[in-house]
Amino acid sequence: MKIAVIGTGYVGLTTALLFAEFGHDVLAVDVDEEKVNTINKGESPIYEPGADELLKKHIGKNLRATTSYDIEDRDIVFICVGTPSKPDGSMETKYLESASEAIGEKLRKGMIVVVKSTVVPGTTENLVLPILERKSGLKAGEFGLAMNPEFLREGLAIYDTFHPDRIVIGEFDKRTGDILEELYRPLEAPILRTSIKVAEMIKYASNAFLATKISFANEIANICERLGIDVYEVMKGVGMDHRISPHFLNAGAGFGGSCFPKDVKALISLAKNLGYEPHLLEDVLKINDYQPRHLVELAEAHYGDLKGAKVAVLGLSFKPDTDDIRETRAAIIVEELLKRGAEVIGYDPKAMANFRKLFPSIKYASGADEAVKNADIVIIQADWEEFKNMNFDAYPNLKLVVDGRRTVKPERVKYVTIGRGD
Ligand code: UDX
Repeated sequence: MKIAVIGTGYVGLTTALLFAEFGHDVLAVDVDEEKVNTINKGESPIYEPGADELLKKHIGKNLRATTSYDIEDRDIVFICVGTPSKPDGSMETKYLESASEAIGEKLRKGMIVVVKSTVVPGTTENLVLPILERKSGLKAGEFGLAMNPEFLREGLAIYDTFHPDRIVIGEFDKRTGDILEELYRPLEAPILRTSIKVAEMIKYASNAFLATKISFANEIANICERLGIDVYEVMKGVGMDHRISPHFLNAGAGFGGSCFPKDVKALISLAKNLGYEPHLLEDVLKINDYQPRHLVELAEAHYGDLKGAKVAVLGLSFKPDTDDIRETRAAIIVEELLKRGAEVIGYDPKAMANFRKLFPSIKYASGADEAVKNADIVIIQADWEEFKNMNFDAYPNLKLVVDGRRTVKPERVKYVTIGRGD
């Protein structure tokens, strides 16, 4: 098949690599010339394990990137552009609109358009479809239309794309559903065919549920703290119930990233527009905002006044194995530390350049050792493998380790973590 992927972020790039690996002819379109050039050199524009290898294998053969919408000969076009949050939490649709317009101009009978971007329920039918019809002069049905959400995790994007728990196909027309089902068959994953709106909601409900699980674990953690018992022991017992499962019950600094915070905010905004007050989802975000602040409170409670204290913040990305700092809890931790007059030294194996754009005036260390060497306090925000192997006891100046991810176990240095009542 001839496939086009519009947008080369995490979703677009991995979708392009998946179908290239299946032997299809894939064209990746992005307005960002720098990204396109990087991809055509066989280098991934994002840090994602496995992406470079697959790119090198296919680029210049059955995969190429371009800035122009040369999609006339394509059978299927996947829209994978970003749908970030607007300041009020609602979904920004401008990239989706411009992509739909550009596709509409090239649309011909029989071509299939698939929305893979995360979009609030109703968006594909009420926004994308009318633009495609208006620009092409065709009626939906003459061209195919579907909504096909992704569930990949950053850092594991390639693995998740090739090993999905399920493929959800929200179809406007049966022919489109049949073709997509065939396209995904080599993955041997369960396929669920639904209406477009149901597919859109499955994505939001899944992310909102996982975010709720994390905030639930954090709420229990904050109660456990007051009882002087360990939330990790509690959640171990809770997660053994097969109806609950042990995943996403790790209490700590809270969730960040490009999906959970944005999608929960967009769902809240949608619910309110529909006249419903989503109390649970609002509290999920409130707890998530509190957790990184609580880490700083713990540092203060166990060290004393933070004014002038040298604090190394380890892990600036929102989680390990990515350079992505979107909604990272590290930003809140650093803000709180600066408010208290602490001297912050940041370190991250991959995300330092990105974090520097947010906080240009804090200090940055070139390695974890350099960050910890001069620090009074270490706060761990993301559990990179590198930190797990560090011997914090070997630093004579270090007085306190505050662990936001339950990742290290120093013996000499005082150790404090969320959800134990230290
Ligand atoms: C998530 C979803 O997992 C994925 O299905 C969706 O498509 C996009 O959003 P991602 O944002 O890449 O993926 O990261 P994930 O591994 O899910 O972690 C999200 C955040 O939650 C991280 O900040 C992580 O540290 C935090 N987290 C995760 C917890 O605090 N506790 C947990 O138990 C699990």
